[in-house]
Amino acid sequence: MSEIDEIDPDDFRHRRFRGDYPIVVEGLENRFGDQVVHEDLSLQVRRREILGVVGGSGTGKSVLMRSIIGLQTPSAGEIEVFGRSITNAEPDQQLGVRNRWGVLFQGGALFSTLTVGENVEVPLRQFYPDIEEDLLHEIARFKVMLSGLPEEAVSKYPSELSGGMKKRAGLARALALDPELLFLDEPTAGLDPIGAANFDRLTLELRDTLGLTVFLITHDLDTLYEICDRVAVLADKKVIAVGTIDELLALDHPWIQEYFNGPRGRAALASKARAKMDKPATGGA
Ligand SMILES: Nc1ncnc2c1ncn2[C@@H]1O[C@H](COP(=O)(O)OP(=O)(O)OP(=O)(O)O)[C@@H](O)[C@H]1O
Ligand SMILES: [Mg+2]
Repeated sequence: MSEIDEIDPDDFRHRRFRGDYPIVVEGLENRFGDQVVHEDLSLQVRRREILGVVGGSGTGKSVLMRSIIGLQTPSAGEIEVFGRSITNAEPDQQLGVRNRWGVLFQGGALFSTLTVGENVEVPLRQFYPDIEEDLLHEIARFKVMLSGLPEEAVSKYPSELSGGMKKRAGLARALALDPELLFLDEPTAGLDPIGAANFDRLTLELRDTLGLTVFLITHDLDTLYEICDRVAVLADKKVIAVGTIDELLALDHPWIQEYFNGPRGRAALASKARAKMDKPATGGA
């Protein structure tokens, strides 16, 4: 296959992926008993894009994410991440790619008995068991601040944080291993509009400065308009369309029209148009 296969697995984790599509899903099928969640689902995620993933509740967005990160074994289909098969790999063979992504799960999933700093240290300890304690704390502190939390948050427990701070703590843990690929499952759900907009801005900044590829599941229309390069729509057990919002609006699928052209969709568009008019001209693109 690609040249990546010839690289020593230990060396592999130190390389950045240079291909066009860090995630390729083909013919994916997921079923739970008689329930078919995905059927012949295909999707390609471009390097360094922020891909919004939308779909009604229960359409299988989280299951898709879990399949890509190897937590859910599909009943059929093929998934490659960084040019490596996730579907056919044994768990230890996935190690070389697993430390190259970070995940913010729906609901945060922080360990409640650990402080924020200790939460961020979990993946570091797992992948770099020999790392010195001082360095470990220093990296954790840095990631916490990178996620926009005050330094004091390092020693706080999840129960001492607001909803928005918990999301940022989850983000700090997702960034622990300097990932190339970031998975965010509903990162702005439950945040007030200002908190949500701040989180969106942070996501965009991190993508730009760290060169991340972002797989972003969201119901938040403002997020889609503000920061997503393309949007993938899950319906009828598949990704029925991927494109910019303008491209999606040109399709006459009822769910897409209802979602983007319904009252909330139009309000989000109007708010984006207003924000553009308020911004001073910067010249150039
Ligand atoms: N481990 C599981 N066992 C059985 N059924 C599951 C499991 N995980 C998910 N499902 C089912 O798969 C379907 C898709 O679930 P999923 O969590 O991916 O939806 P979603 O699109 O993320 O929804 P939401 O927008 O509400 O988060 C649901 O019907 C859910 O009940
Ligand atoms: Mg979900």
